[in-house]
Amino acid sequence: MSNKYYISTAIAYTSGKPHIGNTYEIVLADAIARYKRLCGYDVYFQTGTDEHGEKIEQKAADNNLTPQEYVDNVSKEIKNIWDVMETSYDKFVRTTDKKHQKIVQDIFKKLYDQGDIYKGEYKGLYCTPCESFWTPTQAVNNICPDCGREVYETTEEAYFLRLSKYQDRLIDYINSHPDFITPESRKNEMLNNFLLPGLQDLCVSRTSFKWGIPVTFDDKHVIYVWLDALSNYITNIGYDVVKPSETFQKLWPADLHLVGKDIIRFHTIYWPIILMALNLELPKTVFGHPWLLFGNDKMSKSKGNIMYADDLVAKYGVDAIRYYVLHEIPYASDGSITEELIVSRTNADLANVLGNLVNRTISMAWKYFDGYIYKSKSNDDLDQELIECVESLEKKVHQKMEEIKVGDALDEIFVCLRRCNKYIDETTPWTLYKEQKEERLKEVLYNLLESIRVCTVLLQPFINSTCQKIFLQLNTNDQDLSSIKTFGKLEDKHRLNKPEVLFVRHEI
Ligand code: MSP
Repeated sequence: MSNKYYISTAIAYTSGKPHIGNTYEIVLADAIARYKRLCGYDVYFQTGTDEHGEKIEQKAADNNLTPQEYVDNVSKEIKNIWDVMETSYDKFVRTTDKKHQKIVQDIFKKLYDQGDIYKGEYKGLYCTPCESFWTPTQAVNNICPDCGREVYETTEEAYFLRLSKYQDRLIDYINSHPDFITPESRKNEMLNNFLLPGLQDLCVSRTSFKWGIPVTFDDKHVIYVWLDALSNYITNIGYDVVKPSETFQKLWPADLHLVGKDIIRFHTIYWPIILMALNLELPKTVFGHPWLLFGNDKMSKSKGNIMYADDLVAKYGVDAIRYYVLHEIPYASDGSITEELIVSRTNADLANVLGNLVNRTISMAWKYFDGYIYKSKSNDDLDQELIECVESLEKKVHQKMEEIKVGDALDEIFVCLRRCNKYIDETTPWTLYKEQKEERLKEVLYNLLESIRVCTVLLQPFINSTCQKIFLQLNTNDQDLSSIKTFGKLEDKHRLNKPEVLFVRHEI
């Protein structure tokens, strides 16, 4: 059986620099991808940029650039932020890529030839920033239900995708595949708000602007940006309307499409219907993650509350920011970010719990045994409690990661790290030293160091750079899951490297 795992993020709009909210998604995907790799999966992790549409055409003009120049700049900026966040994507795709454009054109033509796309006329309320048409019931008082801006009445000759034809099949599919849409609340929202009331056919071309992929057989039209963007998930892994490649056969269907809650509708209604029309399997899971808010507010330029990942990383370090966003956004409800919150979370968890534990323990090993550690047999109840906490950790983390509850997985690891700190307070190694209880002191330090190693193995997907620093201080290559199956992998008479501070405390 293949153990491939294909995970994707939404592709980010190149309308401007992404804020920390958009950046959250790539970090979340990265943590999942790294975790799956740790578990031995052959992971393919895809991300990239969504580069067409009217808004981008306008932005380019405002900046006196061609659209291509404009998206080249922004796409580079986005990729740079993904790199600053140390995300381990395998492929960064761009919708202006020639090969992608050609396949999207082929997809459009195929769907037209088989009657799933037809030509008609669109009359409706159009939201330019969202590039979406709305019905009067959706756009109450001429306000776009997605972004809250004004919509305008427009009539356009357009091509349409026959959603209605696939609607019942999709409802059946959703009902018979409980893992397809998560969380459950999103699934109910899709069924009750969109599918059960009945779908209107989707307008899939535009004539009002030029910056898009042309329809080959009707060059007045460009392909609707969502049809173009959604196809990225297959065009970049070797899909072809005539003969999909072997890579495609291996990777498709995707195991997880990670997207924000605002675009779950596109991924669980339009995208599955496009795939059904192409006679392809549907992705196994679409997870609509919650949002990161500034305090309780949506981040926006007009409110002046936008935070950027690269600025935050320059100030607090990459792992503080990775940890913050991964820990602070629950599975199903929005999370919040402010600098005060970042500082208090970093101080409380990373500096006081993790950093302090590692530093104290390694310093003691140097102070008492010149950096050597000794394995000894222990039967103490306190030891057993600590060891049980550490030995059961992998299973607990695994369970949370399977449920995509990444913040909860981190919490489990920190329960163990706190347990280790408590163990220091309970065993008071400095007293053991004073009282010359050398055997017991060796035992205590060994238990602590091995517990730190196990926690570090499991922390790698989330804060990898820090983990590499800890492994260096522990002077160990035992970093994979097989090394934590049983407690006690660190060798007797092993020598550590010198301690170094992992996190500095910040003032608010
Ligand atoms: N280009 C489309 C996606 C096409 S996928 C075929 C798009 N781009 S986006 O740049 O606006 O958003 C990228 C991702 O960031 C989306 O999944 C979106 O939900 C997510 N987020 C945008 N703001 C966010 C927060 N404040 N918090 C968390 N995620 C946020 O949509």
